[in-house]
Amino acid sequence: MAVKILVIGSGGREHTMVWKLAQSPRKPRLYCAPGNAGIESLATCVPINADDIAGLKTFVQSEQIDLTVVGPEAPLALGIVDEFREAKLKIFGPTKSASRIEASKVFSKEIMASAKIRTPAAQSFDHLAPALAYLEQHELPVVVKADGLAQGKGVVVATTHEAAKQAVRDSMEHAVFGPAGQRVLIEQFLDGEELTIMAFTDGRTVSPMLPAQDHKRVGDGDVGPNTGGMGAYCPAPLGTAALCEEVTKQVFYPAVETLSRMGCPFQGVLYAGLMVVKGLPYVLEFNARMGDPETQVILPLLKTDLLEVIEAVVEHRLDQLRVEWHAETAVCVVMTSAGYPGSYQTGCVIDGLPPLPDPATMVFHAGTARTGAKIMTAGGRVLGVTGLGKTLAVAQAEAYRMTRSITFDGAHYRTDIAHRAFACRP
Ligand code: GLY
Repeated sequence: MAVKILVIGSGGREHTMVWKLAQSPRKPRLYCAPGNAGIESLATCVPINADDIAGLKTFVQSEQIDLTVVGPEAPLALGIVDEFREAKLKIFGPTKSASRIEASKVFSKEIMASAKIRTPAAQSFDHLAPALAYLEQHELPVVVKADGLAQGKGVVVATTHEAAKQAVRDSMEHAVFGPAGQRVLIEQFLDGEELTIMAFTDGRTVSPMLPAQDHKRVGDGDVGPNTGGMGAYCPAPLGTAALCEEVTKQVFYPAVETLSRMGCPFQGVLYAGLMVVKGLPYVLEFNARMGDPETQVILPLLKTDLLEVIEAVVEHRLDQLRVEWHAETAVCVVMTSAGYPGSYQTGCVIDGLPPLPDPATMVFHAGTARTGAKIMTAGGRVLGVTGLGKTLAVAQAEAYRMTRSITFDGAHYRTDIAHRAFACRP
């Protein structure tokens, strides 16, 4: 009988996970909660929200799902893995205590200090007045971070003391991030090049993925407000073999060993958001799950069956599996609704979606919904169009060829995704 898998989430990351799992030679039967209009062609979508832990558990028990794979951070921080394990349900992802490495920036810094991981200097504050006083003396620019999960909006890089104080007041006094911002971290600003390296880990063995680079700003040339991610490419030339090995040995293994020693072993995907300064990697943040849109460029290059990797992680036998990658490149261009990351309109008809899979491109859905026969926009980030090729230039051309053929009212995308790769001299 085919293995039954539930993927939790509804974004481009989860569409990519479902797409990759659908390629498993074991032909799993796939479900997704809640999913989107792209995922529904590969999996049965069930209308249960990603943070409805009780609803998800009831569904998994009643449908006799064999394995649950968690996409986003919110259910991890709510303790879905703990609840499922208690009910003897197989699940891929870290426990609530281990996922604090993402859900609390202060906890993450404690892990890094204990594991001697290179990271910018930072100070945490629970009260407004000392935070404001500390800022007076701090050199500029300075980084203000809300401690908890703030949907990617909790980090401000301030170039004036006034802006930094405003960020602290917004977080602690005006509670714009709710309880997530009641504690803040004031951090040294580092000027360098950002890089994402993620790793599968079963709590003992670490298997790093290919390095990728995300584009967080909304506009070409990396200008404008931060977003959830406007595109990505992989492998990023900045992530040389030597740098990836250094990150594996000096970031991932120490982090995983420290988490275990502290009684919260980490199983799943550990994401290191790095700043490379003069060739040295500093950890800006850890996430407890796969990146979005990094997943849309990394998983297409995974040669090993993703289902085998996930099972090896869940069953603590990653040391027995050789995870292999294709010698190709991938570029993902994210198409967004007009106005994103501010307020935006939804409900626009999307035209030009390819009727059949195209060998060189994949269109991963994020904020989409079906109305009758039409696919409509239903979120800020709407689609992630991934192009593949032997070189980044070919992958980029493929991604843009497909992107230009898809239209909806107010569609926005950056036209320079992967531009840093072409200028990179690692
Ligand atoms: N791409 C950034 C993130 O997934 O958090």
